[in-house]
Amino acid sequence: WRAVKLRPRRRPWRRAGNRVVAQASGYKVAILGAAGGIGQPLSLLVKMSPLVSALHLYDIANVDGVTADLGHCNTPAKVAGFTGKEELAGCLAGVDVVVIPAGVPRKPGMTRDDLFGINAGIVRELVEAVADNAPAALVHVISNPVNSTVPIAAEVLKRKGVYDPRKLFGVTTLDVVRANTFVAEMKGLPLADVDVPVVGGHAAATILPLLSKARPKTAFTDEEVEALTRRIQNAGTEVVEAKAKAGGGSATLSMAYAAARFLEASLRGLDGDADVYECSYVQCQAVPELPFFACRVKLGRDGVEEVAAAGAELRGLTEFEARALEALKPQLKKSIDKGVAYAQQQP
Ligand code: NAD
Ligand code: LMR
Repeated sequence: WRAVKLRPRRRPWRRAGNRVVAQASGYKVAILGAAGGIGQPLSLLVKMSPLVSALHLYDIANVDGVTADLGHCNTPAKVAGFTGKEELAGCLAGVDVVVIPAGVPRKPGMTRDDLFGINAGIVRELVEAVADNAPAALVHVISNPVNSTVPIAAEVLKRKGVYDPRKLFGVTTLDVVRANTFVAEMKGLPLADVDVPVVGGHAAATILPLLSKARPKTAFTDEEVEALTRRIQNAGTEVVEAKAKAGGGSATLSMAYAAARFLEASLRGLDGDADVYECSYVQCQAVPELPFFACRVKLGRDGVEEVAAAGAELRGLTEFEARALEALKPQLKKSIDKGVAYAQQQP
């Protein structure tokens, strides 16, 4: 992801077949959990996007200060704050993309699955409101455990009769951002050139970087593959432990950066850019026994395009990658089933 993509030059026109048509005037984005550790820096990055005309911030606490503060930045997106359940519908009305970082983060010694007890209910409640008030919006789920919260969101949307699998995403971009950084550092490559697909899910061994598919084509020893894979899988824990002495929490700044990158990619897809690809945890057939799987998807006007092609990067894996893929399947399946069972038990 090159710097130029953070602030794409926005043309006042686009091509549709052989016609030239005016561009849409900008997109409306809602962030649910906007006053949190991720929510605040993410809101700032989104406020800087030339593709965004309206930015709606929702949280159960402290959203007024964030809204007033951001509102003073002289960038075009108009900021509005919403707080409390009674303002959630207004926050969501007419938005194109909803980003959900609401929920509790890990403390040292916890797994992401340990957050299920609190975050499952938060995600369920917020996605119910999305279904009622912004049923056509793209939904980006950041709240952990992503491996389960995305299936929960899917069940909620199904129950409300508005589920479109092309529009629901688990945000796994941070795994790609980390993989790109660590590979560039290890191999002395220019950061902007490195692109490593990361597939599977977003927890421990379910995070599977495909180093054999890294671009530019790079040779790794077996030891390097093992060390990089382990570091990418444990990077979230590395941050949780580093933050433990100073108030705690998990990755917020790198996560905000990653979420902004994924949002920008989604908006470029909505805007008609022909060549937008990102890894994300989506419903797909990449691995038949896993209804949700993170893989490289093409983003377009309706969210994921070419679902059938999802998982193409799983062809021609190395022995190490193929083994790791087999090993992650039971863990990921269990997390998916847990999310589905939870959502189906709800009244
Ligand atoms: P945080 O505690 O700093 O912020 C969470 C925010 O959510 C708070 O402002 C809180 O008031 C708000 N909130 C809680 N319940 C809410 C509700 N019902 N409606 C609206 N807002 C609500 O936490 P954080 O560090 O920002 O992390 C948030 C979540 O993101 C955690 O679950 C964390 O594990 C996850 N996370 C995911 C990734 C990823 O790669 N997908 C990366 C980092 C963190
Ligand atoms: C991350 O990967 O940083 C997040 O999933 C947060 C965490 O709990 O590790």
